[in-house]
Amino acid sequence: MLFKQLFDAETWTYTYMIADPVSKDAVFIDPVNTHIDDYIALLAAHDLQLKYTLETHVHADHITAGGLLRQRLGAQTAVSELCGATTADIQIQDGDIFTFGEGEQIKVIATPGHTRGSLSFLWRDRVFTGDSLFIGGCGRTDFQGGDAGALYDCITQRLFTLPAETLVYPGHDYQGRWVSCIAQERETNPRLSGKSREQFIDIMANLNLPKPRLIDEAVPANRYCGLDENERQDAIVVREQNAPLRQAWTVQDLVAQAKQQITEVTVATAKQLLNEGNLVLVDTREESEYAAGHIDNAVLLPRGVLEFKIGAVPELADKAKAVLIYCRTGGRSALAAHSMQELGYKNVLSMAGGFEAWQKAG
Ligand SMILES: [Fe+2]
Repeated sequence: MLFKQLFDAETWTYTYMIADPVSKDAVFIDPVNTHIDDYIALLAAHDLQLKYTLETHVHADHITAGGLLRQRLGAQTAVSELCGATTADIQIQDGDIFTFGEGEQIKVIATPGHTRGSLSFLWRDRVFTGDSLFIGGCGRTDFQGGDAGALYDCITQRLFTLPAETLVYPGHDYQGRWVSCIAQERETNPRLSGKSREQFIDIMANLNLPKPRLIDEAVPANRYCGLDENERQDAIVVREQNAPLRQAWTVQDLVAQAKQQITEVTVATAKQLLNEGNLVLVDTREESEYAAGHIDNAVLLPRGVLEFKIGAVPELADKAKAVLIYCRTGGRSALAAHSMQELGYKNVLSMAGGFEAWQKAG
């Protein structure tokens, strides 16, 4: 087997490549967008075909190369289903197994806490822990749905129960260390060794770290597999066209599931409600689509950044107030409405058919 640990010096990120030199299947874990040419050269040098790019989580400090690797090489992108990265090909669940090469398996271990959707990947005798467990540390738990208690539980109950000699390959290291093992972390990790759950939560609550440099750019981009704004719409359209070929967890599946849990209204009803007033109109398309034309008085809140920007929208401060959301055709607004319901908004409506139907209706 071929195993490479690659390093991005800008963000101190480790990327991993695992490949089978016989079948030529390759898998990347946490590739960084700025190294796309290096990755393609590396794969070509070994005559490899990239099968998957796996993300340990939606990163806040760098942008993934997953979307680019899909565009350039056709590799499937895979992210936790809890990350809201709706354009990823595979929405990963705990316990999923990725197979490649001659019977090789990568097993998914959900390790939430750094983010809600954080995952670790176990391959043979090594575990790729992303930002859940570092060498002598762990990822922060103060944004992206972080939860110190959950992180303590999954590290102590899921990672530390792996065989003692299992090699630990983290998502970052800031001191040039590159590998550890479960026994070493269990015994010497200062945040965890001999620490109770309460002590750990207390440590994590008092780290006083600055906001990650790229969070406002990287998190929304990574929810679209790292593609930029213009490429995102294409990615959504491609996924929709491909949907019949894919078995489950496509964008269409997600939209269909969201639609079962939200209320849709027709354009005619939407017009009536807007005339009556007393509701907030939200446009959940991308900025460029909004700029090209939108419904009067609509507040712009793109789907990709909804959870991160909603707190800064004064019109949406009152969760009891009625909200009407639209997008281009009604898919993204269904997902956005569902997300807002999850965030505690009591009366959210999605406009069926979106801005296209609105324009048709005159
Ligand atoms: Fe992270």
